[in-house]
Amino acid sequence: MDKQGFGGPSEDGERTAWYERQIDWDAVGDRQESADYEEDIDWDAVEEKVDEIINEYDGDSGALIEVLHEVQELVGYLPQRVQVRVADRLGLSVSEVYSVVTFYSLFSLKPKGENHITVCKGTACYVRGAAQLIEELENQLGISVGDTTSDGKFSLEVVRCLGACGLGPVAMVNNEDVFARITVDQVSDMLQQYED
Ligand code: FES
Repeated sequence: MDKQGFGGPSEDGERTAWYERQIDWDAVGDRQESADYEEDIDWDAVEEKVDEIINEYDGDSGALIEVLHEVQELVGYLPQRVQVRVADRLGLSVSEVYSVVTFYSLFSLKPKGENHITVCKGTACYVRGAAQLIEELENQLGISVGDTTSDGKFSLEVVRCLGACGLGPVAMVNNEDVFARITVDQVSDMLQQYED
């Protein structure tokens, strides 16, 4: 019960959903704090568009995934204040929206990097070393899967299949450059090509 649903009473005596205890509430609640890449965003315009999208679904909370998908297409990712707006307008808690955003890998909390690296972790690639490849990329970039480097140069994503199973392990950069049968030793050279 504890893992799937609800934990014990919190300090103020209320029971807390398991997923709510995974959230950095200070970060979610602070709408003033924003990353450098958010400074140029016209938030009023974004929120106006978000409202338009939600209106298309008549504010139906059951359309949360569709709404998030469209909003991500609009903004490029799902920043905190957009999640708060979506929650407000759909009559959901921020934690409900946040748990969906973090559950589905197609949603991103950060914008993609200038160079977006996609690595396949499907079975054919996995048995040929995809896990080690991903680990090496994480180490060299200093980020985890789903993250973007602080200079915005690279972001890293893992997918189930890139449709080139015979060439595994496979990585793709910017949805066009394919690196077939790439080994851990070749990671550095691969990244170097996008450094300048
Ligand atoms: S399993 Fe990796 S490309 Fe299909």
